[in-house]
Amino acid sequence: MASIAPHPALIFLLVLAVSSALAKGNFYQDVDITWGDGRAKILDNGQLLTLSLDKSSGSGFQSKSQFLFGQFDMQIKLVPGNSAGTVTTFYLSSQGSMHDEIDFEFLGNLSGDPYILHTNIYSQGKGNREQQFYLWFDPTKDFHTYSALWNPTHIVFFVDGTPIREFKNNERIGVPFPNSQMMKVYSSLWDGEDWATRGGLVKTDWSQAPFTAAFRGLSTDGCTSGIAACSKANNPYMWQQDLDSANQQKLKWVQKNYMVYNYCTDVKRFPQGLPPECSAN
Ligand SMILES: *[C@@H]1O[C@H](CO)[C@@H](O)[C@H](O)[C@H]1NC(C)=O
Repeated sequence: MASIAPHPALIFLLVLAVSSALAKGNFYQDVDITWGDGRAKILDNGQLLTLSLDKSSGSGFQSKSQFLFGQFDMQIKLVPGNSAGTVTTFYLSSQGSMHDEIDFEFLGNLSGDPYILHTNIYSQGKGNREQQFYLWFDPTKDFHTYSALWNPTHIVFFVDGTPIREFKNNERIGVPFPNSQMMKVYSSLWDGEDWATRGGLVKTDWSQAPFTAAFRGLSTDGCTSGIAACSKANNPYMWQQDLDSANQQKLKWVQKNYMVYNYCTDVKRFPQGLPPECSAN
């Protein structure tokens, strides 16, 4: 007589399949909600996270793990409609006043007007390396993947796999490079109406609140205990020295057609001379 109970091996395989599905980018496992008093929500068994912002508060989360180098991807669907004044962020940061930071900040806009992707890099507490871009799609309609590659030779920002910015390690000419402090991954949604939209001219319309941005597919392929523990076989990105020529072409295309602001061309801002990395690349 055939048993109706499933074979134990089948149960084992099912459990294995479910737990490995959960292990890949599960917000319950990977992040802590750090602020927002209930405005950040983990949904769909950990596959989706939403942040919201209203007049009293925004919200945010951070990774449980910290990293020294890695490749970090996040899929984000930004605040739709009138998002003027709102700032949605995805960044890496270490702690303290001499901290390092790699920033994606999405500056909202009036309905139909373009978002700006604002990027910055802090090294040993010093930033002032902003570059801003328009996107070549509406970032509120669908999820798009924003990635930071951080290894000892460079930091590269990607949008849907297209490099938009490269910051090379220029320590040889005295430019500090983030290479010794562990960083965590952070995201937040907050009110930046004093500067975000047309330099602060357009304020947040609170009658549209709450504003909501959605996140999924966080992937933190990083070195969790320093570079020495990061093997070449498991972490090939660690050893990539330069963008290949196809990616260099794409980078040029984005910088030519979508760049809104580049600190490296802002001579008024640096009367003593542009930062040294600006002429080194
Ligand atoms: C908002 O739209 C205006 C008008 O098109 C544009 O000048 C500005 O760069 C846009 N983005 C932000 C974040 O201000």
